[in-house]
Amino acid sequence: MAKVSIIGAGQTGATTALWLAQRELADLVLVDIVDGMPQGKSLDMTEAMPVVGSDVKIRGSNSYQETSNSDIVVITAGVARKPGMSRDDLMATNGGIIRAAVSESLKVSPEAIFIILTNPLDAMSYLAMKVSGLPRERVIGQAGILDSARMRAFVAMELGVSVQNIHCYVLGGHGDNMVPLTRHSNVAGVPLTDILLPERLDAIVERTRKGGGEIVSLLKTGSAYYAPGAALAQMVEAILLDRHLIVPASAYLEGEYGQSGIFFGVPVQLGRGGLERIIEYVLTDEERQALERSASHVRETIAGLDG
Ligand code: APR
Repeated sequence: MAKVSIIGAGQTGATTALWLAQRELADLVLVDIVDGMPQGKSLDMTEAMPVVGSDVKIRGSNSYQETSNSDIVVITAGVARKPGMSRDDLMATNGGIIRAAVSESLKVSPEAIFIILTNPLDAMSYLAMKVSGLPRERVIGQAGILDSARMRAFVAMELGVSVQNIHCYVLGGHGDNMVPLTRHSNVAGVPLTDILLPERLDAIVERTRKGGGEIVSLLKTGSAYYAPGAALAQMVEAILLDRHLIVPASAYLEGEYGQSGIFFGVPVQLGRGGLERIIEYVLTDEERQALERSASHVRETIAGLDG
C-alpha cells in the first residue's frame, strides 16, 4: 500500500484524509503540532473505515518520524484566513511553518512528491521548492482544481446540468485576480461563451474569483476545507494511480506562458513522477494580458518572502 502523509491535521488536512481514506488508495499519517489532535482524528477515522469498507491504516502523530518513506507529503499546515484578510496576509506566519514542514518531511521521506495547499499558495509552493531543493516535478501546488471546481459548481447551479458535463479551467495565481478561461470552459463540449449571456458569465467569473472569500465571510472563523480537500485528494489519486491526468495546478514555470521563476496556475499533467508536463494553451491577447497581471501579483508576493 502506498503511504501519504498530511502535515497539518486541521480542517483541510483532516478532510483530505477522509476523502482519501474512502478511496482506499494509501495508508495515511496525519501530523500536527497540537497534542492528541491528529491521534484523535485518525482514530475516529479508523473507526469509520469498517462502515465505509476501506482497509487503509490511518495514524496520527506529533512527530515526523511516523511519516518516514511517504510516497506523497501533502502540506496543509498553517493559519487560515479570517474575514477581511487576503491570502497574502498569511505570508509571514505560514512561511515559517512551510519551511519547517518541508525540511522535516524531506529528511524522513527523501523520495516523496510534495503537494502544497497552505496559502498564499503560489508563494508557499515556491518556498517549498527552494527549501527542499527538489526539482519542479516533485513540488506542486493545489489551487486550480479548487478554483475550477467552484466555477463548475456555479455553472451547474445556473444551468441545471450535471457537474460531470461541465469543464472549467481557471489559471493564474490563486488570488482574486485568477483567470477563469471562459473560452476554454464548456458544457458537454459547447463553450460557455456560446451558452451564457455575457452578464451571467461575468457574474460567474466574479463569483469564482472571490469564491474563497465568500466561504470565509460565511464561516467567519476560518476558510474553506471540503472542496480544497477534495481537490487535494484528486491530485494524490492522479499521482498514485499514474493517471496522466490533466488538471490546473500551481507549477514552477521555466518559460511556459512567458513566465519564469514563479509558481503559477497552469494546466499540468500528473502521473507517478509528479508533474509530467505543462500544457500551453493558445491564448488571445486579452487572456494573455489577464495572466500577465496575475503573474506580476504572484511575482510581488514571492519577492516578499524572507531570504
Ligand atoms: N506543523 C504542523 N502543523 C501545524 C504547524 C506546524 N508547524 N503549524 C500549524 N499547524 C497546524 C495547526 O495546528 C492546525 O491544526 O495546521 C493546522 C491548520 O488547520 P486549520 O487551522 O483548521 O486551517 P485550514 O482551514 O485547514 O487551512 C490550512 O490551508 O487553505 C489553506 O489558507 C489556508 O493556509 C491555510 C491552510
